[in-house]
Amino acid sequence: MTDTAIPTTARHDPAALDPAETMSRDELEALQLRRLQQTLAYAYERVPLYKRKFDEVGVHPDDLRALEDLAKFPYTTKEDLRGEYPFGMFAVPQNQIARIHASSGTTGRPTVVGYTKNDLDVWASLVARSMRASGVRPGNKVHVAYGYGLFTGGLGAHYGAEALGTTVIPMSGGQTEKQVQLITDFAPDVIMCTPTYLLTIMDAMRHQGIDPRKSSLKTAVCGAEPWTDEMRHELEMGLDLDACDIYGLSEVMGPGVAGESVETKDGCHIWEDHFRPEIIDPFDHTTVLSDGQHGELVFTSLTKEALPVIRYRTKDLTRLLPGTARPSMRRMGRITGRSDDMIILRGVNMFPSQIEEIALRIPALSPHFQLELSRPEGRRMDEMAIRIEPREGTTQEERTAAAATLQEQIKIHVGSSARIILVEPGELERSNGKLRRIYDLRPKTP
Ligand code: DLL
Repeated sequence: MTDTAIPTTARHDPAALDPAETMSRDELEALQLRRLQQTLAYAYERVPLYKRKFDEVGVHPDDLRALEDLAKFPYTTKEDLRGEYPFGMFAVPQNQIARIHASSGTTGRPTVVGYTKNDLDVWASLVARSMRASGVRPGNKVHVAYGYGLFTGGLGAHYGAEALGTTVIPMSGGQTEKQVQLITDFAPDVIMCTPTYLLTIMDAMRHQGIDPRKSSLKTAVCGAEPWTDEMRHELEMGLDLDACDIYGLSEVMGPGVAGESVETKDGCHIWEDHFRPEIIDPFDHTTVLSDGQHGELVFTSLTKEALPVIRYRTKDLTRLLPGTARPSMRRMGRITGRSDDMIILRGVNMFPSQIEEIALRIPALSPHFQLELSRPEGRRMDEMAIRIEPREGTTQEERTAAAATLQEQIKIHVGSSARIILVEPGELERSNGKLRRIYDLRPKTP
């Protein structure tokens, strides 16, 4: 499947940029077109679901003559993958599948994904590319605190770190005290974990009397959940390091679909030599939007062998922006949220990241908060309560004033009323990985 004419990894020198990172946009689009044509034909021939879906709408892989023609092809959704559970979407026989991962859906069957040996090599090279963009270099020590196992975070980061030529510490998630001990004793340069788990580790350091700013960590490569620039600031100031974003999803590959450059810190560059992104209208799900417009991110894989994905609907809401540090590769704006995580409260749409952004601009408030949605008995209107921890060392007056400011700012910027409940510092459950922010206690509508 892979186009061998274009090396995917600069194997001779892991610190160097991949040739694809310095291509012109024209060269990159020519490569995309060639790989897209190959992928569509490959998926159509090998995966019955794709043949069925293409035939249903009367398109054939030969209909793709220009990149824009991709819009004629049907989308793939998580439900498609679930419907083919466990291995129905695999394009190669089982004996060519080198590894399986799965994402634990909150309900029902997990989504199963598979990789050939070549897919694993490409994945490792793209995580290495993302890490390199974020400032990680061969010889660095990398503490991986993403969970190992079926989740793609731990092993994805691990093999990327190895491919880059770093020393990997495969700690996995959880056991926060031990994390702190290993960071203190092994003195890693880099940590890879979710942004909220990095907060947990930072807090644990403080509670053990360790100044997080004095730790050896110089770089954090954080992803797997939405986070804001305010959170970046919190982590960078708290730990005295550079925090960069890394994006990905298991259905499309895992971490490393896109990575952020430490020089610009302006959103993740999508590795467009392997993935063709589109933004579609999140309401009608049909119109393809132009660069700069907000909508749902859709990906088509260009080199995947075991599980090619055609126009996979991520449900992540963002926009495409021009490349900066890698001029020919487009960036994605920060993910504001997932369309299925959107809170609709009395007709107002909002995401937890908006609350994070507002709360972290108020000095007396910490990033530790939860949103609770309820419908009190006998009422028809939904309510939102925000449980939030003030920062340690703040006075009661500062806390009360901060709660009032938060309420007012949410009203102004989000357009919704919220009840603010100040809890004691340390009271809310801490993140171990992907943090759950929303507790929806409203009666389920059938
Ligand atoms: O979370 C893969 C990953 C691991 C990415 C480690 C980065 C670091 P899934 O469990 O399949 O895969 O979840 C994918 O997580 O659709 C987004 O909603 C969210 N997500 C991932 N990275 C980011 C990010 C991994 N940088 C889902 N910013 C995606 C915001 C992210 N959301």
